Amino acid sequence: MALTDPSKRLEAMPPYMFAELERRIEEKRDAGIEVISLGIGDPDTPTYRYVIEAMREAVGDPGTHRYPSNRGRPEFREAFADFYLQRFGVEIDAVDEIIPALGAKECIYNLCFAFLDPGEVALASDPGYPVYTGGPVLAGAEAYLLPLVPSRGFAPDLDAIPEDKLAAARLLFINYPNNPTGAVVPDGFFERAVELARDHEILVVHDNAYSETTFDGYVAPSFLATPGAKEVGVEVFSLSKGYNMTGWRCAAILGNPEAIRTYWRLKTNVDSGMFEAVQLAGAAALRGPRKDVEEMCSIYQRRRDLVVDALGAIGVDVAAPKGTIYIWAPVPAGHSSTSFAELVLEEAAVVVSPGSMYGPSGEGFFRISLTTPDELLAEAVERLRSHLS
Ligand SMILES: Cc1ncc(COP(=O)(O)O)c(C=O)c1O
Repeated sequence: MALTDPSKRLEAMPPYMFAELERRIEEKRDAGIEVISLGIGDPDTPTYRYVIEAMREAVGDPGTHRYPSNRGRPEFREAFADFYLQRFGVEIDAVDEIIPALGAKECIYNLCFAFLDPGEVALASDPGYPVYTGGPVLAGAEAYLLPLVPSRGFAPDLDAIPEDKLAAARLLFINYPNNPTGAVVPDGFFERAVELARDHEILVVHDNAYSETTFDGYVAPSFLATPGAKEVGVEVFSLSKGYNMTGWRCAAILGNPEAIRTYWRLKTNVDSGMFEAVQLAGAAALRGPRKDVEEMCSIYQRRRDLVVDALGAIGVDVAAPKGTIYIWAPVPAGHSSTSFAELVLEEAAVVVSPGSMYGPSGEGFFRISLTTPDELLAEAVERLRSHLS
């Protein structure tokens, strides 16, 4: 074994398949071609002004400068409890049923270490946010993939999971509104997840990253509003997308108090909590006026329509999603996800994400993120129209 060899767990992570695409992007940029990336989902508009003001004030208070506790400040926990009641009709005990997380990514990853042992299984959507599969693998466990297909409204068929996987399963990751498919939760799916969790002693982790980015009047529910959900599950609520705060690393885990205690136990060994000024700013975000959130949704809705129309013009028909910041579209006949992404880059100098990046069931699709400024998005869409129709 060489000095710098990675651990077997890291070695077991799926290989990075898009090196070739990235090489070509670099090549184009080096040749002076302006490449427009519709790849990553990172809001281009700033954090709301009132959140920044709250941060300014909090950062000036020396009381926020010391090691935070992983349990979080009362202001943060109470703001979440009030928000969950008003926004979702869900009662949260601010003492036992919520603690901060340094972004949903950290939380999901650490939940794997808190709950999974080698030989155990996490049930993960395919396509899905990559940490649902990478987290279990790094924890030395297995991710069992649950295909999301259009005919089922992009909800996994929980009745099709083999008995041995159910017996070994400890976690079920779900996420609605869904990245990458843009689907909202089909009627009855959360209820079915609660049933499965009860029958097989599986902790449900609902990754609520996109409940605040919705369109056409759709209001996304919390998984915790489902009867019985708190007995079998937790929800991770991130401020990254709904409040344009991806850089702040501000999220929380809410729900089942024992599960939260276990996660907290793990975290006391791993990190030293969330900067208290960020906690106070996060609390201010949740307590703030809804007007900024509504305006953000109208920006994405306008961009969504622009992209759906442009795709229609090049023969790619997609239904306009009711939530998230993504368009999930089938690749034209004769293409794989990667060959289409390469074609779009070659012909139009536009980057789209190949669907296979999100799991094998993402093959045959590509994803466009709506987090590009309007003028640039319009330019990208025009290039797609003129080069690919
Ligand atoms: C489904 C989903 N979960 C979690 C995250 C990451 O959230 P955070 O910034 O809170 O780590 C993302 C980011 O794209 C996401 O799409």
